[in-house]
Parts: sequence; C-alpha cells; structure tokens
Amino acid sequence: MVDPLPRFPDGFLFGCSTASYQIEGAVHADGRGPSIWDTFSHTDGRTRDGDTGDVACDHYHRYPEDVALLADLGVGAYRFSIAWPRVQPTGSGGPNRAGLDFYDRLVDALLERGITPVPTLFHWDLPQTLEDKGGWLNRDTASYFADYTSHVVTRLGDRVRRWITLNEPIVHMAQGYAYGTHAPGRTLMLDALPVAHHQLLGHGLAARALRAAGAAEVMITNNCTPVRPDGDDPTPAAIYDAFHNRLFNDPVLLGTYPSFLGDALGDLVRDGDLDIIRTPLDALGINYYNPTKVGAPADEGPLPFETRPIEGYPTTAFGWPVVPAGLTELLTGLKETYGSALPPIYITENGCSTEPGVDDQFRVDYLDAHLRAVHDAITAGVDVRGYFVWSLLDNFEWAEGFSQRFGLVHVDFKTLARTPRDSYRWLQSALRPR
Ligand code: FCB
Repeated sequence: MVDPLPRFPDGFLFGCSTASYQIEGAVHADGRGPSIWDTFSHTDGRTRDGDTGDVACDHYHRYPEDVALLADLGVGAYRFSIAWPRVQPTGSGGPNRAGLDFYDRLVDALLERGITPVPTLFHWDLPQTLEDKGGWLNRDTASYFADYTSHVVTRLGDRVRRWITLNEPIVHMAQGYAYGTHAPGRTLMLDALPVAHHQLLGHGLAARALRAAGAAEVMITNNCTPVRPDGDDPTPAAIYDAFHNRLFNDPVLLGTYPSFLGDALGDLVRDGDLDIIRTPLDALGINYYNPTKVGAPADEGPLPFETRPIEGYPTTAFGWPVVPAGLTELLTGLKETYGSALPPIYITENGCSTEPGVDDQFRVDYLDAHLRAVHDAITAGVDVRGYFVWSLLDNFEWAEGFSQRFGLVHVDFKTLARTPRDSYRWLQSALRPR
C-alpha cells in the first residue's frame, strides 16, 4: 500500500503521451508517404529483431478503443503526435486531406470524452523526401516545417488550443545525426550541430504560424537531464550540460546560444534567427528520465565528454537509473537558471519500461515517486502545470523495437489486445476526485 499522493494545485493537468510512429501503424493508409523511420526500421540491423512500426499498436484503426482507455483512466489530457508524412506525403505542397481526417476524428473523439488534445507537430518521423534533401541539416526544412504546421493548424485549430512544436530536438540530433542509432542514422558526431539550429528555427517559425492562426498555447518539449560531474575536472560535465540542456533552452527562453556553441554554429545563425527562435512561449515541455554522470573521455575521441553509468539506484528494464529527486533538482535548477524568463512547465514525458506482465508494481512505485518529486518542486516555487505519463500503451520503442514496454496498458503485439496494467488501475484511483 502506498500513501495517497499529495494534492496538486487546482487545474493541474494529468495526461498520457504517445507518438505517431510508435503507435499508429497503417503506414500505407490514406496516402501517407514514407518517413525516415520507415526507411531506417526496414534497413537490416537498425532495430532490435528487425522490428518496424508498420503495424505497431494499429492505433490508426483502433483509436476509439484507446480514447476509451484514456477516458476510463480519468486523465484530462492526451499528448499525441501528428505524422508529417500523413499530412504532406513528400514533405511539402498542399495537404493530404485523408491524412488530416484521421487527426480530425481523433481530436473529436477526445473532446467528446472531455480530454484536452495536446498535439506535438514533430516527433521524429520526417518525410523521407525531405531527408533526401538533407533533412534537418538543410535550413529549408525549417520553412517546410512551418508550412506543414500551417496546414495542420488550419484544419484543427478551431478545436485544438495547445500545441507542441518539436519533441526533444537534442535526442533527434544526437541519436539521429550524431551517433546514428536512430533515423536517419547519420554518424556526424559534432558536425551534427546544424541540426540543432535548423530544428530551433523550425520551432520558431512554427510557433509564429500557430500564433498567426490564433493558437492559445504554444510550447516546445525539451529532454532535460541534471548533469553530475564525475572526476576532478568539472569541464566535461559543463560541456555536456551545454549540449544537452542549454543548447535548446537558452535560445528559446533567452534568445542566445551558450557561447562556445554559438561560435561553433558561426554563420549558420543569420541575423534575425534568434528573434524567431525566441518567439514567446506559453509553456515549456520537459521530458525527464534520469540524471547523467559525465566525466572526461578516456581516449582521444571525437567528443569532449563521456557519459558513465550512475550506480546505487534501481534500474528500469532499459537499465535507466530511477532517480526521482533528479526531477525536483532539474525543475528547481531551471527556475534558478532562467528566473523570470521561465514560463510555466509541463512534464510532457516521464515513465519507465518494465517486465512485460500486467503486474507492474515497479511502475506504480516509479510514478508515485516522480509525482511526489514534481510536487516537491511546486512546493519549492516552480510553476509546474501538468504531468504526462510516457506512455499510454506499450509501443515501438525506436531502435529497441517492441522489447521495451513503457505502457500503463499492456499490448499483445500478436493480437493487438490491450490490457490495463496494475499501474493503470493505480493511477485511475489516484485521479478519482477525493
Ligand atoms: C523519449 C521519446 C519517446 C520515448 C521515450 C522512452 O526520449 O521522446 O518517444 O521513446 O523516450
């Protein structure tokens, strides 16, 4: 038995998060074009067991059942992502009506059940045609992203008030373009840096397009990690912090880059870019999974830091350390760093992978501890307005395929049957009005 959760402020939004390629399947339906994740997952050796998102949870067809699961759970919001290649199969040009129809139906189904839709416009599934033109290494992708955003907000903006532009631009840059462990699989190491600037520019242009269309709330979701120096020299940890956290928070909140990264970007940053990137945000989305320990690299390698395992904590099925206090530390640290420039925060992802079964006391303990950590930050004066669990359903966990299960709801990937786990029941009772 765990104690009841502390009381959160009135209006605090509880939700669940998912992403298009991880759950939708139906990759050829209604004119959807190929994305970089279709290409990557269909390339030998890229994903565990060769898993792909071709079917995933088949949410594209089963969304009514998934909306019913959200409603029964009692959450007030649902964060999902829109697949750009459904809206523009080749990444530019007029919208594909049938693709937008799907999100139209989903939004209506959510609103009918009193659930606030919170769409993310880009959760990594770039149309392959744009990757063929250089992907986010190409500055033009930022403008294409703004055009795509306009199509989406024109269709859904009468019912959707809250929008997230990008999901975790650091992870897309690092895994997708620097290390090559995610699509598009490039291994540019430090030469991937332009991807950060072009994504941020795309964010700023999209934020302006959303505002021009009357959107009420615009945010970006950044993955943030408290960085713990390991060893005598704190410099590698400071560099890592600049790359992982400040490269994305400073420009959107302050309109500046950490100085050495701004120098490295050089002429790529044109006059006026930072003003666009700093377009005021109504809220900041934060995804938190764990702190990161960083020391000096053992060998002369391409990177000026090395991440090391954090010991002494329980670990998730993924092997990620469970450190709830890291979330409080992160939130209070953001307030200290950005002061009055920090808008209200939503935790747009937090969660863990567990053993496949429905008996997931591990996840109950994880969520309970992290919600308390959020509450501690609120008590310490941080304006946190909501918390979204990653994830509603077991899903296609990128390079790990279906091997990592993050769902409050178990999915049998043979039959696609959904079965709520113990953590779903726990959250359902925690959310019941007291
Ligand atoms: C985040 C991603 C999300 C999911 C979780 C486990 O980095 O945004 O899609 O993969 O990790």
